[in-house]
Amino acid sequence: MRGLRLGVLVSGSGSNLQSIIDAAENGMLESQIVCVISNKEQAYGLERARKHHIPAIYINPKTEGYDEKLLKTLQDHKVDMVVLAGYLKIIDKDLVEAYKGRIINIHPSLLPKYGGKGYYGIHVHEAVIAAGERESGATVHHVDAGIDTGETILQRKLEVYEEDTPQSLQQRILSEIEHKILVEAIALLEGRL
Ligand code: GAR
Repeated sequence: MRGLRLGVLVSGSGSNLQSIIDAAENGMLESQIVCVISNKEQAYGLERARKHHIPAIYINPKTEGYDEKLLKTLQDHKVDMVVLAGYLKIIDKDLVEAYKGRIINIHPSLLPKYGGKGYYGIHVHEAVIAAGERESGATVHHVDAGIDTGETILQRKLEVYEEDTPQSLQQRILSEIEHKILVEAIALLEGRL
């Protein structure tokens, strides 16, 4: 199916979301974002969505039935594919089942390294630096019932410099890799789903 209806889930800044918004607006993608959903009311990703007139929905994770609400919101917006773009909450198995093969995630490491419980956001880069790794990168993968375990769609690496801090490494991986491979992965799947 070309021109997918994307539902993007964010928990923070949403710079990866922005890369999808930009690619859809400049014609690099045929897909469109039909809703952006967050478990964090103050997530800047919601603001980015509003600026582009995309429905921006906050769902309080403390309310009962959070996972059901999330699934219903995606279905109400007729979402074909779910994109986890810095969504830092474990995905419920019913959502994985309902969107089997149609949920992707971006993770800031060379999976399977530095994936799984506790490895998210800046913590991934802290661990990479602490271990003295010479290279790191990012991975876009399908989401299955595990944490960061689904099949890889795209992965790209870069060199870790002596002088890198977790913050500088995070920024380079975001701008040089994540913002590109996320859009490329969606473009790949546009032709396949
Ligand atoms: C990104 O680096 C993304 O890979 C990571 O959170 C950051 C969100 O940045 N995701 C994970 O760690 C998932 N386990 P953004 O809000 O600016 O897109």
